[in-house]
Amino acid sequence: MANTISVDQQANREERYRQLLPQLEALLAGETNLIANLANTAAAIKEAMDFFWVGFYLPAGDQLVLGPFQGSVACSRLPLGKGVCSRAYLDKKTVIVPDVDAFPGHIACNSAARSEIVVPGLNQQGEVLFVLDIDSDKPDDFTSTDATYLEKMVALLAAAI
Ligand code: SME
Repeated sequence: MANTISVDQQANREERYRQLLPQLEALLAGETNLIANLANTAAAIKEAMDFFWVGFYLPAGDQLVLGPFQGSVACSRLPLGKGVCSRAYLDKKTVIVPDVDAFPGHIACNSAARSEIVVPGLNQQGEVLFVLDIDSDKPDDFTSTDATYLEKMVALLAAAI
């Protein structure tokens, strides 16, 4: 397996995603352990894209529980029915929040977070295995380009486990 991630830090965000995608595929190849793959994916995205916070939440009854992440310490548990991660989990759809303060029920794990994208990972039965949560300290930092590439990455992950 590949054990380093290398992207051109001068390139624009889409180009960095393009460079990261095949490297992530190589990183996940042959590994089926959920925690190992979530951990390496969080690290790869953080390193390549330099986001403020990158991590996973996993369903646990009526809550989402914190999984592998890169960044500051975060909320261990999120109630279903409140917040951005819960919305993406329940709707089984990517949610982009340009201004977290304007999202009703947003759960602020870190006061520096200004915008956010959450992408659910579904198995072949359509059940959500995890959500990928990325926070930015800049407002309005995510577009459909982020959604497109992060959904590809989440699909790779969901297929690997
Ligand atoms: N903001 C998220 C909570 C998770 S933290 O951002 C790491 C939410 O509203 O679900």
